[in-house]
Amino acid sequence: MLVLAIETSCDETSAAVLRAPDMATKAGTCPSGACPPDPAPHILSNIVLSQDEVHAPYGGVVPELASRQHIKTIAPTVGEAIARAGVRLDEIDLYAVTQGPGLIGSLLVGLSFAKGLAYFHKKPLIGIDHLHAHLEACFLEDPAIAYPVLGLLVSGGHTALYLIEEPLSYKLLGKTRDDAAGEALDKIAKFLGLGYPGGPVIEKLGKGGDAKAFPFAVPRTKDRSLDFSFSGLKTGALKLIRENGIMAENPRLADFLASFEEIVARTLIDHMQAAADQVQPKSLVLCGGVARNTRLRTRFQEFARRAGLDAYVPSPKLCTDNAAMVGAVALKRFALTPGLTTDLDLDAFAR
Ligand code: KG4
Ligand code: ZN
Repeated sequence: MLVLAIETSCDETSAAVLRAPDMATKAGTCPSGACPPDPAPHILSNIVLSQDEVHAPYGGVVPELASRQHIKTIAPTVGEAIARAGVRLDEIDLYAVTQGPGLIGSLLVGLSFAKGLAYFHKKPLIGIDHLHAHLEACFLEDPAIAYPVLGLLVSGGHTALYLIEEPLSYKLLGKTRDDAAGEALDKIAKFLGLGYPGGPVIEKLGKGGDAKAFPFAVPRTKDRSLDFSFSGLKTGALKLIRENGIMAENPRLADFLASFEEIVARTLIDHMQAAADQVQPKSLVLCGGVARNTRLRTRFQEFARRAGLDAYVPSPKLCTDNAAMVGAVALKRFALTPGLTTDLDLDAFAR
């Protein structure tokens, strides 16, 4: 069973080929105790073509340019995924594509391409929610994560907490009311003229800086809900930048960036802790592009140790947008609903 997955929701063109897990191992045909209870799908290829160079001069993603770039790169990316996997297109049993949320023009490129393939090869096509795909990335490497799972998704477009009580059941507990955490990092980096994407630049330039040097407080929504708000933090950071004359060459830049990164990480983990108190999960998952950040990963692991919970973060390549995570959801969905056929009416949703 082979799935070809396509992801074009924002500024990465990605295609992956996954082989479904060998369920024979689950049925107990291997020596007792020697097999994992839930075998993971095998990632045969996961090609990710970044558009960072295209958008860097603008300090953020330009939607029109993103769609045009996907149009140029979608066919070679899918071709490369097939070639690296060592399979032929006519061997693919299932197609999967990100349906949303994301930039509508970008989504439509991947969706139309996937529809064309599924139509021509007469194979089923599944539309996948991008946020569910991020949450499933962890299961590709650790398929036996114990439910209920509390998931914190932190990316450039989204910051949200989910309760996953059983496979494929994602309950939204809280989300950002304004900026996403990655967006706040990207905007501060842009304001300081440090480049795009901002998260990795802030991490690099803030290394060795004193994270307590600048006074930031963890923001809380007035109703104490599990929703996030990063716009106040961003405005506070801009004020400190002006007051202290922080700029690219300033000797206090590293301290400022480390302090800002620290408060973003602490805010995220603070909310996760409040959610864990409410829903009492068995495991914790951190995912999305910002989950690549070392400081955030450290704070996450510290919290998990304090709470006595198993904690999982995907390897860096599976944190940022990629098609393997889309294939992961598709294989689970297909296993639960066999007999799926191609829905040629499948539509994209931006939000
Ligand atoms: O998940 P992703 O690839 O795309 C969205 O779905 O948004 O996440 C992109 C975000 C960007 O905001 C980027 O600045 C951030 O992830 N990011 C990081 C790091 N690497 C990527 N943020 C902090 N530290 C990093 N090392
Ligand atoms: Zn994403």
